[in-house]
Amino acid sequence: MTEKKKTGGLAGVSAGATAICTVGKEGAGLTYRGYDIYDLADNASFEEVAHLLMHDKLPNQAELDAFVARIKSMRGLPDEVKQVLEMIPGDSHPMDVLRSGVSILGNVEPEGDFSNQKNAADRLLACLPSMLLYWHHFHTDGRRIDVETDDDSLAGHFLHMLHGKPPSELHRKTLDTTLILYAEHEFNASTFAARVITGTLSDMHSAVTGAIGALRGPLHGGANEAAMELIQKFTSPEEATQGVLDMLARKDKIMGFGHRVYTTSDPRNSVNKKMSKILADEFGDTLLYEISEAVEKVMWDEKKLFANADFFAATVYHFMGIPTYLFTPIFVCSRITGWTAHIMEQRADNKLIRPAADYIGPGLQVYVPIEDRA
Ligand code: COA
Repeated sequence: MTEKKKTGGLAGVSAGATAICTVGKEGAGLTYRGYDIYDLADNASFEEVAHLLMHDKLPNQAELDAFVARIKSMRGLPDEVKQVLEMIPGDSHPMDVLRSGVSILGNVEPEGDFSNQKNAADRLLACLPSMLLYWHHFHTDGRRIDVETDDDSLAGHFLHMLHGKPPSELHRKTLDTTLILYAEHEFNASTFAARVITGTLSDMHSAVTGAIGALRGPLHGGANEAAMELIQKFTSPEEATQGVLDMLARKDKIMGFGHRVYTTSDPRNSVNKKMSKILADEFGDTLLYEISEAVEKVMWDEKKLFANADFFAATVYHFMGIPTYLFTPIFVCSRITGWTAHIMEQRADNKLIRPAADYIGPGLQVYVPIEDRA
């Protein structure tokens, strides 16, 4: 075997150009089309950010109103998609449900000519929450829910469908902010997967289906669910500290910590942490927040590893009454904006993505007939 290369996992390798996002750049940090993520999280709505990513610019008021109305009008699900969602077992992981949902939508409403790409992207943004929560309610309480609500925002619409009533403004705004933070992150694994598929001139639904598969894993988006499961294992901050020390001694990975690109902190974490504290106080139970802080402290003290976007997002969602298995699918409902922006950018200057590999296998072998093999 050759020595493990420094570029393992393509770390530090530039795999192409993008005008959509910077991650961890000196003096820039996390930006979407040149806008600082903190500025967007403080001042914009998720729909403004979706427009910025998918339609290339921050909308003016008339453009935003038109975009919100358009997305709202595209929330309905075709009967064929509902039938498939009903057939998917109730104990499936909802990421698998979305993967199949997008795939069947691509059969029922094929993208067709690429001139239709913005329409296909808007449709996916609008109906991913519908697919997820239609399946969720059908299999948990046997109801075929109405996937159209009066809520203008995706965040309000999502919580309304989940809980059967409009959310408080605090919860709507908090979910909205996490959607902004999750929307885009340059050449992360799922986006890169989408670009690889797009590079073959395949359709948008295939690229998004592949991206969902990549996001599902615990080293990527699945970390928010794994983080919640970890936090809930402990009954006190002291137990959490000891438990994490034991895990580190066993060389276990602690989900929700570390990052391929950031080296000292993930800029999204401070926003999520602040929201987690606000919701813990509102919830009237700060234990899970204190446990989270204890895990964060021991990870930094022992390994100089920092919480990434997924760690405090976990308790934020938990305090809003969102079941853990819907955490990563919420990431999908947001990241669809970044994925489709990258799919469209890849198409605008397409080149097949087909890297080379360093061969480490045996030299040329002589074929031995099967009856003569040991
Ligand atoms: N818990 C414990 N140790 C960790 C760790 C974590 N979350 N993240 C990194 N490390 C350690 C590794 O064990 C490794 O130690 P070693 O050099 O002694 O073997 C070192 O830090 C480098 O980690 P590595 O996994 O090789 O870095 P990477 O750049 O390939 O991985 C992640 C980046 C994100 C995949 C990695 O930090 C991780 O697995 N984190 C947990 C999953 C997660 O939260 N994913 C969401 C990312 S936004």
